[in-house]
Amino acid sequence: MNILVLHGPNLHLLGKRQPEIYGHQTLNDINGALDQFVAASPHNVVLKILQSNHEGELVSIIGEHIDWADGILINPAAYTHTSIAIRDALATVGVPVIEIHLSNIYAREEFRHHSYISGVAVGVVGGFGAYSYILALEAMIHVLGPNSTDNLDE
Ligand code: DQA
Repeated sequence: MNILVLHGPNLHLLGKRQPEIYGHQTLNDINGALDQFVAASPHNVVLKILQSNHEGELVSIIGEHIDWADGILINPAAYTHTSIAIRDALATVGVPVIEIHLSNIYAREEFRHHSYISGVAVGVVGGFGAYSYILALEAMIHVLGPNSTDNLDE
């Protein structure tokens, strides 16, 4: 299974960016943990991990992977709350999407409570810091597995 992992704006500064909210782990730490999880997984998973601060670039990246990605993990960061274009790109590709947040957006400012992305996602994982990414990857492997609708073992 080919899984595209997308990090949105300002996530390249993780570690330095408001660590009281987003934690001390860097984006490299998170990407390394995802790679490690895949290496230890019995499933045949290929990850491609990209970050962009630009909405249009994220839209382009999503579209360019229409024939490659079996699933998409995305932390759209601030674009979660603003971007119909990213939502439309994800809907166009049509593969399962899991929305990720480090923080619990519902415990924060009201403007973070609405997501344009959730409506095209199979699920949302948030509030667990860097571990949100691992949980989302595990969930995606389950969703893409053969018995995803009726089996807790996959
Ligand atoms: C975030 C939450 C967003 O509201 C915020 O704009 C981010 C990060 C998170 O991972 O908690 O940049 O997506």
